[in-house]
Amino acid sequence: MEGTRIKEIPDKLQQIKEQLLDVTDMDQVKVAHEIIDDTPYKTKNYMKYMHDEYYIQHNKEHIIKQSHKKIPLKVNSERFQNKMVSHLISNRHSLRDYENKKVDFETFSNIIHYSFGVKNYGLGAYNQKKYPFKYTNSQGGLNYLDLYIVVNNVEGLEQGLYYYDFINDELCLMDIGNMRPLINEINFQNEFTVYSNFICFIVADMERVVPKYYKRAYRFSHVDTGILAAYLQLIAEYHDLGSCSVAGYLEHKLEELLDLSSNDYPILSICFGYKPEEV
Ligand SMILES: Cc1cc2nc3c(=O)[nH]c(=O)nc-3n(C[C@H](O)[C@H](O)[C@H](O)COP(=O)(O)O)c2cc1C
Repeated sequence: MEGTRIKEIPDKLQQIKEQLLDVTDMDQVKVAHEIIDDTPYKTKNYMKYMHDEYYIQHNKEHIIKQSHKKIPLKVNSERFQNKMVSHLISNRHSLRDYENKKVDFETFSNIIHYSFGVKNYGLGAYNQKKYPFKYTNSQGGLNYLDLYIVVNNVEGLEQGLYYYDFINDELCLMDIGNMRPLINEINFQNEFTVYSNFICFIVADMERVVPKYYKRAYRFSHVDTGILAAYLQLIAEYHDLGSCSVAGYLEHKLEELLDLSSNDYPILSICFGYKPEEV
């Protein structure tokens, strides 16, 4: 078995797995839930949630600093005209076959910016002069999700791996090159993703949220990812781009590609591309 967490605490995990050998999957879910859901209501440990101040961090600074290049997004709000929400939600479906056509940079920028970008600044929130709030809401308004993007075919962007610095609204180039062979390995049995124009990987950095919400943060990181995924997919649909959420990835391979620590939890990948022309 591979993976950053398995490598870090193999004995502890083995010990717990052995204890759960005779426990059904359904009951293992109960165990996992009750261990994580340690609210004062259940534990009577009322002091646990009265914590001290903690360090707020919005981004992975080292990735931004070490990036080869920074490319500002080119957002165009005028591209949003008057499409009905009912039209968008009725038309969206999981698209697994893509037209071989470049995505223009404005379309790409709008999808990323209006989901993961800064919507407004809160003055004084978390004792910060200007606290960035994203378009998508999250537990405590904390910015602990990271967005990595593999670009296969987007106008004006080199093929490669990018990290989105949402505060500066720019893409940070982490690695250059054709990532399709790697994506084929990562998205096990979901090889259609290789033909998409770009793939977003949503990763929760637990170091930036567990200090506030403790273990419960794990549950709500999935909620926050779901909100983000819905925005990404519906904004893509607005721009006539199809998409597909993909949970079928090999976590340890993705950890290698993104160079994740054991506190980074990949939650979802979503790939995007144009619907094939009707023949
Ligand atoms: C969290 C999540 C994970 C998914 N993982 C995969 C996947 O690994 N492979 C795939 O082909 N589709 C995947 N899907 C797409 C679902 O199969 C699809 O959303 C569902 O069948 C409903 O179809 P629709 O999206 O066309 O409405 C996933 C969807 C969600 C929300």
